[in-house]
Amino acid sequence: MRDDSHLPPALRGLRIPAVAAPLFIVSVPDLVIAQCKAGIIGSFPALNAREADGEPPMLEAWLKRITEELDAFNQANPDRPAAPFAVNQIVHRSNARLERDLEICAAWRVPIWITSLGARVEVNEAAHSCGGVALHDIINNTFARKAVDKGADGLIAVSAGAGGHAGPQNPFALVEEIRTWFDGPLLLSGSIATGHALLAAQVAGADLGYIGSPFIATEEANAVQDYKQMIVEAGAEDIVTSSLFTGVSGNYLKPSVSRAGMDPDNLPGADASSMSFGSGGSKPKAWKEIWGAGQGIGAVKAIEPAGRLVDRLAREYDAALAGVLAYAMGRS
Ligand SMILES: Cc1cc2nc3c(=O)[nH]c(=O)nc-3n(C[C@H](O)[C@H](O)[C@H](O)COP(=O)(O)O)c2cc1C
Repeated sequence: MRDDSHLPPALRGLRIPAVAAPLFIVSVPDLVIAQCKAGIIGSFPALNAREADGEPPMLEAWLKRITEELDAFNQANPDRPAAPFAVNQIVHRSNARLERDLEICAAWRVPIWITSLGARVEVNEAAHSCGGVALHDIINNTFARKAVDKGADGLIAVSAGAGGHAGPQNPFALVEEIRTWFDGPLLLSGSIATGHALLAAQVAGADLGYIGSPFIATEEANAVQDYKQMIVEAGAEDIVTSSLFTGVSGNYLKPSVSRAGMDPDNLPGADASSMSFGSGGSKPKAWKEIWGAGQGIGAVKAIEPAGRLVDRLAREYDAALAGVLAYAMGRS
């Protein structure tokens, strides 16, 4: 486990070493602002900011609001400033907005750029053009090497049990293989829902934890009440892994699959060519009716403000750290 002095400034000095992961539909400015004010990096997918045809880009309005509110907060709270925020770009051929969104993010000097589903040199260059840090998410060591070769500054290792498009690999195996050759910023994604799991991610070799599903059950999240309540009530056994809904393997809440009239224990597969991030999408049900979540949601016991969730994570993290220190003292 290392301190954070080797990390780029945007990833340093957080209240706890955590990034709130971008969540399709769910992550909106209210949530991002609450996450950053609570002291962890907040994020949203650029594709969540959708304007009606002919309207000015919603992404610009969101970036303006987030930037201004966090600036005002920092002026009022110089002793505990907000964490920076991140924007997620889906780098997939079906994302027709990508070029425009990159330009908008560069113009607004977005501090942290998270890229998913494709590593491209020009996307990393766009991030660097405004001083941003580029983090790419990967599910195995081969993709990790490709991402770094294409200029990513850091990696997000998406392991088994993560919400949304999860990987198939165990987190210990994935982090271990990457750490044999990569010394830069490494985030671990997948079922981190407590402060002690966050500390475990660091001990395993990651610099920061990447936390998604628990934020669905927050007051600021853009999710219907039933979805939030299902996160509170469900546990790891209620998660099914399937490629049916988007063409890529992902984790979903079984009760939402049953409600849509399908048997979650008998789902057919699908091929990756059906994946689409254009408007409309080939499977409109995914995310709207079939709800994504990772296996860590057993730790979520209530719908609460995002700031209170971060408070819990920080309390648990500090308690776990104190426990480890006491254990180490006992051994010495
Ligand atoms: C409902 C939902 C939507 C997601 N949407 C995105 C997305 O748009 N872009 C992305 O890079 N990752 C997305 N993810 C994956 C998360 O960024 C992150 O990897 C994952 O939530 C971490 O695992 P956890 O949910 O177990 O904490 C999504 C996850 C969920 C649960």
